[in-house]
Amino acid sequence: MKRILITGATSAIAQQAARRFAADAAALLLVGRDADKLAAVADDLRARGASEVKTEVVDLLDLARCSRLIGEAVEQLGGLDALLVAQGTLPDQGVCETNPVQTLREFSLNAMGPMTLALRAATHFEGQRSGCIAVITSVAGVRGRRSNYVYGSAKAAVSTFLEGLRGRMREAGVSVVDIRPGFVDTPMTAQLAKNPLFATASTVGNRVYRAMRAGDAVVYAPWFWRWIALAIQLMPRSIFLKLPI
Ligand SMILES: NC(=O)c1ccc[n+]([C@@H]2O[C@H](COP(=O)([O-])OP(=O)(O)OC[C@H]3O[C@@H](n4cnc5c(N)ncnc54)[C@H](OP(=O)(O)O)[C@@H]3O)[C@@H](O)[C@H]2O)c1
Repeated sequence: MKRILITGATSAIAQQAARRFAADAAALLLVGRDADKLAAVADDLRARGASEVKTEVVDLLDLARCSRLIGEAVEQLGGLDALLVAQGTLPDQGVCETNPVQTLREFSLNAMGPMTLALRAATHFEGQRSGCIAVITSVAGVRGRRSNYVYGSAKAAVSTFLEGLRGRMREAGVSVVDIRPGFVDTPMTAQLAKNPLFATASTVGNRVYRAMRAGDAVVYAPWFWRWIALAIQLMPRSIFLKLPI
């Protein structure tokens, strides 16, 4: 796994995963919307051993641009071994409930962009009969909760999409990795009150790296979220609907 495209590369979780790839002397193309942040991340990764770090400023809400990124990565890195999709926003659920345009915008960033990238990567990796497509989804996709069903349904869409894509990619030897973190202390959750279930970006980023190296299918991060997610899935609807979450 030597040539890697990371979208949403300024994400705290993605930065930690990228540091691990840099230590393996990988060549990286970092895509994000903020040129200064990207440049700082790129400098850090060069210092940590990356063989090459390129950056591309892209608003990942632009689906046409997302569609072209795999081709650009192949050109810039001289080939591509892995894609890590890390962009995301935690929508204001209240605003989304009165503003369908905003809801679609959130859905576009959290679901349609990642699916566009995964589809393009799938075609490329299928052709070369190797590769890794990894997307950071969320335990929020396991079940629709009243407090964040816009975000949750976007993540659920991606997880279902990846499950089907994994089936398609199986014979081509391409791994499709769905990483589902629980709460992580990153800029995305800065406004939330913290509790003992919060993990660090470093813990989750390291898990992303290991899952991609191993070609895992579905990974909960940290591990205990697998059991919390299972309990939520199995909870009778009559009880679930009464939960204030
Ligand atoms: N933190 C959690 O509790 C948690 C839990 C489960 C899943 N996740 C998922 O983990 C992934 C990484 O998030 P994080 O926790 O590391 O938070 P983060 O540091 O806030 O990262 C979010 C990333 O998305 C980028 N982004 C947002 N809108 C964009 C746009 N229009 N164009 C390009 N990039 C855009 C941000 O860019 P800027 O740096 O320019 O803002 C940032 O790089 C996300 O997919 C998130 O949904 C997070």
